[in-house]
Amino acid sequence: MAKYQLLLLAFLSLVAMKPQIVFGNFQEDMVFNWGAPHSSIFNNGQNMQLQLDRYSGSGVQTNKQFLFGSIEMHIKLVHGNSAGTVTAYYCSSTGPKHDEIDFEFLGNSSGHPYIIHTNVYTQGIGSREEQFYPWFDPTADFHNYTIHWNPSQIVWFIDGLPIRVFTNNEAIGVPFPNEQAMRVYSSIWNADNWATRGGLVKIDWTRAPFIARLSRFNPRACEWTGPISLTACGSNSPANWWTKPTYHKLSYSQMGQLKWVRDNFMIYDYCKDTKRFNGRMPRECSKPII
Ligand SMILES: *[C@@H]1O[C@H](CO)[C@@H](O)[C@H](O)[C@H]1NC(C)=O
Ligand SMILES: *[C@@H]1O[C@H](CO)[C@@H](O)[C@H](O)[C@H]1NC(C)=O
Repeated sequence: MAKYQLLLLAFLSLVAMKPQIVFGNFQEDMVFNWGAPHSSIFNNGQNMQLQLDRYSGSGVQTNKQFLFGSIEMHIKLVHGNSAGTVTAYYCSSTGPKHDEIDFEFLGNSSGHPYIIHTNVYTQGIGSREEQFYPWFDPTADFHNYTIHWNPSQIVWFIDGLPIRVFTNNEAIGVPFPNEQAMRVYSSIWNADNWATRGGLVKIDWTRAPFIARLSRFNPRACEWTGPISLTACGSNSPANWWTKPTYHKLSYSQMGQLKWVRDNFMIYDYCKDTKRFNGRMPRECSKPII
């Protein structure tokens, strides 16, 4: 074949390729804030490992702060006996009245299910836990844990399925996280005083190190560059895809998916815990979930 034909073929095969999704880079986007020697970034910043042993856990945080958008992370949790370990992936602002959106993964003995724990803090107040069993083995493969956050709602997604929604209920006096920028964090730590069967199962240190694997970090979010971002990130400008009407609430099919997850895999809902709140339920609990 003539040289130009080969070139043409190479060119055509390039064109036929799907556009590549460009993910964030751990090396450039994050810094270790705890236990750096226990963690590593490799594969040109595409992958990261967080480790826990009897001396330390480890954690990272983004350099940038965000206000609204989609924060995506693919995580493969500690496999085997992970009892007593907690792996966390969350967004948080700082200060005593901080806002926070959490995914936490509570480990378990081999063959027993992880608990996927979610929470949201507004103005420093949390106590809004919802917990789920995964419908898949979260230790066998990477799964897509994404937080969608806009002025109308927060949605927690796993592999594209919404598992939880926190709606903006400022109209009935419930603060919504819409004024404080957040960094993205991930960490693994020893929580064997409470995590597994309420603290009954302790970490088996002979199995250390415990390793959580992260990849495809993708913050498609509004970068906080000072107070001016407050209006810039929340405005209906076309660049702010997260404020488009389609993201104001779940679609009809997403509502079905949410219901499927909640009917089959939800194990704790703070809005149903009347004992805990002594009958004085948080205000948002009076509203339908979606
Ligand atoms: C991960 O899930 C989010 C939310 O559903 C979605 O927007 C994103 O495209 C997913 N990522 C991949 C690589 O499929
Ligand atoms: C661990 O397994 C036990 C028994 O299957 C289960 O009750 C518990 O919810 C699981 N998860 C955690 C984090 O304790």
